[in-house]
Amino acid sequence: MYKLNQNETPLFDALMEYVDRDTIPFHVPGHKRGHGVDAKFKQFMGENPFQIDVTVFKLVDSLHHPTGPIKEAQALAADAYGADASFFSIHGTSGAIQAMIMSVVNAGETIIVPRNVHKSVTAGIILSGATPVYMQPELDKNLGIANGVLPETVEATLKENPHARAVLIINPTYYGVATDLKRIAEIVHSYDIPLIVDEAHGPHLKFSDQLPLSAMEAGADLCAQSTHKIIGAMTQCSLLHVRTKYVDVSRVQQIMNLLQTTSPSYPLMASLDTARRQIALHGKELLAYAIDLAEYVREKINEIPGFYCYGKELLNRPGVFAIDPTKICITCRDLGITGFDLDMILSNKYHIQMELSDLYNVLAVGSFGDTKEHMDQLLAALWEISEEYMNKSSRKADFLDIPPIPKQVLIPREAFNGQKTSVPLSDSIGEVSGEFLMAYPPGIPVLCPGEVITEEIVQYVEDLKKTGLYVQGTEDPRVENIQVVL
Ligand SMILES: Cc1ncc(COP(=O)(O)O)c(C=O)c1O
Repeated sequence: MYKLNQNETPLFDALMEYVDRDTIPFHVPGHKRGHGVDAKFKQFMGENPFQIDVTVFKLVDSLHHPTGPIKEAQALAADAYGADASFFSIHGTSGAIQAMIMSVVNAGETIIVPRNVHKSVTAGIILSGATPVYMQPELDKNLGIANGVLPETVEATLKENPHARAVLIINPTYYGVATDLKRIAEIVHSYDIPLIVDEAHGPHLKFSDQLPLSAMEAGADLCAQSTHKIIGAMTQCSLLHVRTKYVDVSRVQQIMNLLQTTSPSYPLMASLDTARRQIALHGKELLAYAIDLAEYVREKINEIPGFYCYGKELLNRPGVFAIDPTKICITCRDLGITGFDLDMILSNKYHIQMELSDLYNVLAVGSFGDTKEHMDQLLAALWEISEEYMNKSSRKADFLDIPPIPKQVLIPREAFNGQKTSVPLSDSIGEVSGEFLMAYPPGIPVLCPGEVITEEIVQYVEDLKKTGLYVQGTEDPRVENIQVVL
């Protein structure tokens, strides 16, 4: 099924050769294979990480101009994921997303994106000077989360903006909800433009048929994945995959070179090389284990009074085309405590650290690194918490409908660079916002930089505050003042 030998790890092997040669290091980093490292740090870390912490030279290749083991390692990644080319990003998916956007849109051109994008998308839009057109994702009122964007929404937005140069989709969401990406790819391609996918939460999808379709399989032209989030790479390590029909690979390389450091970490890149080997060769079994464990804990959580952990029953609700079962989202609305409270109780009392929390939920990221013992410890903690808090407070209120997307009069780059001043929110109607204003739940901006503040938005923020729901994003943490562009 693969064209290349996925058992190979060319970059890691080159580093091993460097170590085996017992090379004398007259190159940076100055710690010289660990000899110059602080003793306290080295005692904890051990010798090995420093032995392969090298810099760019022929034996280990260059990330900016790969001709040797990095080139081979990236080709293996492309082969594993079914891409025409792949790039290592040691600036996480954030860096890869900025590069994807800058590869397909220039200043003055339009890109269509969901309203609830990660801040790296906004950064890419600011850096490129592009004009965003926003699509609203589907919302789940009960869970207080944003799901995927519907194909129909993409179709309607493209119809209104036929001059757009690219469409970006988040798939799957942080909460493991996937949209119908294949259908979206067909719609986007009917306009002869590329589909780019923020697949931060999907580096594992390709390797199990129990998971949603991966971006490359669905027909995306560019996708960025956090290899470090879900599978075996170290933090900061992501992959950017390219299909060449609508995207110029040499442009992607140039932009990656523009954005990434000239001193990339070789231990990090070696972890990408070996994580790819692991998932390509053993992904199916490893993911079957992770899915079984997550399904086990999901079923058990649903037996605990006050908690709910969604699964397949969500399918076919708006924006829910498929579900990643490894995401364990624990909803605690019926227990009368917030997700933030639950997160703190689990962390402080039980030393269990969740991935994120919001008003109604905490999210555990499941992976093949989990154990049944840890799942059982989580369940035991949840039982105790349920017994302590059940029937003490009432269910948290529903979130309020979000006002319509306001008019954009400045593009994000102009708003970002423009001179700003802080004014009371109540006096800001008609001004141009210089910052984001986010409604939690469901984590969607009601205002983006460059948009006109309306009376409806100011009223909405007042209503949110009265209901005890969250609004944030402004420099003023109490959201009484807002930065506006002069
Ligand atoms: C949807 C989404 N996109 C992009 C990113 C950025 O990924 P990274 O942390 O690898 O830079 C994140 C991080 O949480 C994310 O949730």
